[in-house]
Amino acid sequence: MLKPDAVLRRLIGKILSRFEEKGFKITAAKMMVLENDLAEKHYAEHSEKPFFGDLVDYITSGPVLAMVIEGEECITIIRKMVGATNPKEAELGTIRGDYAIDTGRNIIHASDSTESGKREINLFFNNSEINKYTLLDEEFIYEEP
Ligand code: RTP
Ligand code: MG
Repeated sequence: MLKPDAVLRRLIGKILSRFEEKGFKITAAKMMVLENDLAEKHYAEHSEKPFFGDLVDYITSGPVLAMVIEGEECITIIRKMVGATNPKEAELGTIRGDYAIDTGRNIIHASDSTESGKREINLFFNNSEINKYTLLDEEFIYEEP
């Protein structure tokens, strides 16, 4: 999910290009302003943390771009591409390392496990909104497509 700061800073194209160029497939995308309730569900694991209120305010402060991105090992690889939670510690070359400075303005969310990925997809998308298609170059991306 691209957080509101990514959208408002016109970084959608640059960030999506990274996922496309890597070889991943974007199978759903939706821009929306999250209601508090949905934001709280999305970040429920942090509900007891001191930063929870600020986090919910941040993620509901403007439009986000929710996406489903598919590919082999995509959770692990995308978390690497996103970089450390604190952008000051994120390696240069990662999305947060290149485009962000503050933890509370770290521009992108990525699911951290298959289970949380499934849970989050179900929060934001119906099955009919997820598109199944084949990319023309899959045989060049994967040894065994
Ligand atoms: P995300 O869920 O957004 O992909 O981020 P993450 O896994 O790297 O980090 P997580 O621990 O899940 O934290 C969720 C988001 O909460 C904000 N945060 N603020 N002030 C703080 O100490 C603090 N810690 C986390 C960040 O926006 C973080 O991405
Ligand atoms: Mg997280």
